Formats: sequence, structure tokens, C-alpha cells
Amino acid sequence: MNGLGGANPEGVVAEDSLAPDAPVAPVMLPLLTGGLFRADRYHFFPVLDSTNRYAALLAQEGAEEGSVVVADRQTEGRGRLGRSWSSPAGLNLYVSVVLRPAMRARDAAQLTLLAGVALAHAVAALSVDGRPALLQPELKWPNDLLLQGRKVAGVLTEMRTCTERNERIRHVIVGIGVNVNGAPETFPEALRDTAISLATVARSPLDRSLFLAGLLAQLDRWYGRFCQDGFAPLRAEWLACSRLVGQPVRIRLASENFSGQAMALDADGCLLVQRANGMLTRVVAGDVLLPGER
Ligand code: BTN
Repeated sequence: MNGLGGANPEGVVAEDSLAPDAPVAPVMLPLLTGGLFRADRYHFFPVLDSTNRYAALLAQEGAEEGSVVVADRQTEGRGRLGRSWSSPAGLNLYVSVVLRPAMRARDAAQLTLLAGVALAHAVAALSVDGRPALLQPELKWPNDLLLQGRKVAGVLTEMRTCTERNERIRHVIVGIGVNVNGAPETFPEALRDTAISLATVARSPLDRSLFLAGLLAQLDRWYGRFCQDGFAPLRAEWLACSRLVGQPVRIRLASENFSGQAMALDADGCLLVQRANGMLTRVVAGDVLLPGER
């Protein structure tokens, strides 16, 4: 514990009692060779309430951009729209990174799309026994990564702004949960038809540390590109990793539900949906349901 609270809420868990692929610091540090996510900014905990919450505390205390918080298990993992994120020990990946981009707060959702692109590339690059695993990830707006039409990973972006008028970002926490090795029975019952793990599709257990190293490398790559060239290349890559455009969709908003056809991502990263009456609606935040999804 370092005074921030929330680490190991149920007492000390010895790191040597963790599964061999746990991304503990001694394993990860040699894999973090320069770039944004450096060894001296890596924080691993056997148990946290939420890596997003802990990373936000670190950021408020001045943690540098590129700080990484990982837990083997979360007791209060958070999902989008106030949902919880099931986070059992020893199976999956729960990671949050601190970013301090010079951008408008209203564009922060673009970082969710960025994390999705990084995830898609990290999953596509996976190998099993030295051979490409040939997984075919697909992005679903705004924050899901799918394999075989089921959710394999999700992104939760939370931010703090710095001016009185909340225009600029002080820090953003990009939290990523990946179902790496969880078997179907490890998911909450309500999610068993809609969630899947990398290992189930690859038909082989995967090493969480190696996957995390690949994911951080992709985040570094795409964040660098975003800071240099803006959202346009990222938008194009997001669309290349998604089959959403052209699909019939149902949209669930806080205020209404409607059906239509996904048409595009606009220049800000919002989803454009054409309703049956031809009206084009710009979806800023909400749930997208594909055919067959409930
Ligand atoms: C979603 O799909 O609803 C987003 C899920 C994000 C879960 C991750 S796990 C690591 C980080 N810490 C949290 O509490 N949540 C995110």
C-alpha cells in the first residue's frame, strides 16, 4: 500500500501464489523497453477494487503520462454506463493507463476508439505455439471488441478536466478489460451467451504478460500517431477493423430506442445512423445492438 487506498483490499496476496502468466512487475519490466509505457511507471497488484479508480488516484497525485496499473483481480471492476465488470483472479487482463493528451475534453471518446484499434491489432498479432493464431477481431462502436460475434474485451475511458469551463483534459484513464483465458463457466450467467475469451477461440491458453506487452506496444503506436496526425487516420483504421457500417442496428439511448442502418463514423468519432424514415441521427453515447443481439 502506498497511501492511495484500494490496493489489496482483502489483505496481502503473495505474488508467488499467482498463476505463472500473471503480469507481475519482474516479468513485465524487461518487456517495457522504452516508449510511452516504461518500467518505472508500471504498477501491478494481485487485487485492486478497480484499476481505473487506482490509476485516477495516481493521476491526481501527479503520475506521469504512460503510468500503467494492472491487477490480477478486481473486486469492483467498472464497466460502461455504470455497469460492473466481472474480474476473477488468474484468468483475464485488467489494465488502466494514464494519458495526458493536449485535446478538448469533448473529444475524449476518440481515445476509446483508439484503445479499440490497439486491442484489435494486439489480438490479430497473437500466436499459439509459434504460429499465427489467425483470430479475426471486430470492433463494435463505441467500446467493444468482438470475436465470433461475442464480446472479448471492453474499454472504459474516464477523464478529469482542468479548466473552470472543463474544456481541456487534465488526465484520461483508459481502462481495458480483456477476457484472455476465462472459460465460459467463469463468466456471469447473464453474459454466457454474449461473452467469449481469446483462449476459447484460439483453442489454447494464452500468456497474459505477453499479450499485455503487445497491447501496450499497440497503444503506444496508435497514441503516438493520434498525437501527431489527429483523429483522421485512427478513424480510418477503426472503420477497417469494424464491420458496423452498412449493418442494421438497434440503438439504445437514455432517452429513446430506435432502429436503423449504421452509415459511418463522423469526423469526431460519433456513429451516424440512418433511420427507416431517412433521418440521419448522430449517436454520441449509447448501446448499439447488432442483428441477433438482445
Ligand atoms: C465495458 O465494456 O463496459 C468496459 C469495461 C472496462 C473494464 C476495465 S477492466 C480494467 C479497468 N478497470 C475497471 O474498473 N474497468 C476497466
